[in-house]
Amino acid sequence: MVDTSVRFSDLLLDNPVVPASGTFGYGKEYAELYDINLLGSFSFKGTTLTPRFGNPTPRIADCTSGMINSVGLQNPGVEEVLHSVLPEMRGYFHKKVIANVCGFSIEEYVETARRLSEDESVGILEINISCPNVQHGGMSFGTDEKMAYEVTRAVKRAVKKPVMMKLTPNAPDICRIAKACEDGGADAVSLINTLLGMRIDLKSKRPVIHNIKGGFSGPAVFPIALRMVYDVYNTVRIPIMGMGGVSSAEDVIEMMLAGATAVQVGTANLKNPYACKEIIENLPKAMSFYGVDRLQNIIGEAH
Ligand code: SIN
Repeated sequence: MVDTSVRFSDLLLDNPVVPASGTFGYGKEYAELYDINLLGSFSFKGTTLTPRFGNPTPRIADCTSGMINSVGLQNPGVEEVLHSVLPEMRGYFHKKVIANVCGFSIEEYVETARRLSEDESVGILEINISCPNVQHGGMSFGTDEKMAYEVTRAVKRAVKKPVMMKLTPNAPDICRIAKACEDGGADAVSLINTLLGMRIDLKSKRPVIHNIKGGFSGPAVFPIALRMVYDVYNTVRIPIMGMGGVSSAEDVIEMMLAGATAVQVGTANLKNPYACKEIIENLPKAMSFYGVDRLQNIIGEAH
C-alpha cells in the first residue's frame, strides 16, 4: 500500500495532482464526467476584480507537442464568482480549492485576493503574476523582482490564507523572482506558467493568433519546467507547486524528485478531460514500479 498524500502549506492533499488554472474552469464541466473529489485540489480560472470577455479570436494555435493560448483572462469577475460560482461549486467539490487571482495593479490584486480569501471553499490563493496575454498586468509583475516583492507583500498583508505566487518562465531569472516572492512573505510558489510563443499561417502569411503572441504549453515544455523547478528548489525554502507539460504519473514523480511538493496538470486536460483522473489512478502503480512508498519522501530527492 503506497501513500500518495502530501502536505502543501496548510493543506493535506490526498494526492499531489491539481488541475492547473485556465484548463479546468471552475470544475463544473469536469464534474459532469467524473467525481472530481478524487483530485488533490484544483486551481480555478484566473479571476479579476471585474468581468472580462478576454482577447479577440483566434486565441488558440496548434503546435508540435503543445499549444499556444491567448485567452486574455476571460472570467465572470470576483463578484459573480463569490455569489454564484463558488456556492454552486460546493455542491460538487467538497475539498479546499485554489483561487487563482489576476490583476492590473497592486490594488486590484489585493482587493480580489482579499475578497476571495474570505470564501470558505478557498484553501490557498494563487496570485498569477505570470499571464503573458494581457498588457500592464499579469506577467509584467512577474518579470520584475521589485514588483513581484511588492505585490506579494501587499497581498500577504491583506489576507489570512496562504499565498502562492505563480511565476513566469519569461522572467530573465525565475529564481530571483521566486526569492523576491519569498522575501515578500509568500507561503509557496507555483511554476511555470506558459512560455511566450507564436505561429505564422503559411497561406495568409500572418500570425495565427489575433494578438500575435500567446503562451506555449504542453509536453514540449516539460524539460524546461522541470529544470526551473529544480533551480527554484535550490533557491527558496517555501514549497513549490510544479507544472508545465505534465501528462503522466511518471511526470508527477519526476517533478517531485526535482523539488515540487504538488504538481499541476494543465494542457493535458484539454486533450483528454480524464487526464487527471487517469494520472491519479496510475500513480500507485508507477510508485510501486519505481520503489516509492510515500510521495512526500521523494520531494527534491534528485538534488
Ligand atoms: C489567459 O487567460 O490568457 C491565460 C492565463 C495565464 O496564462 O495565466
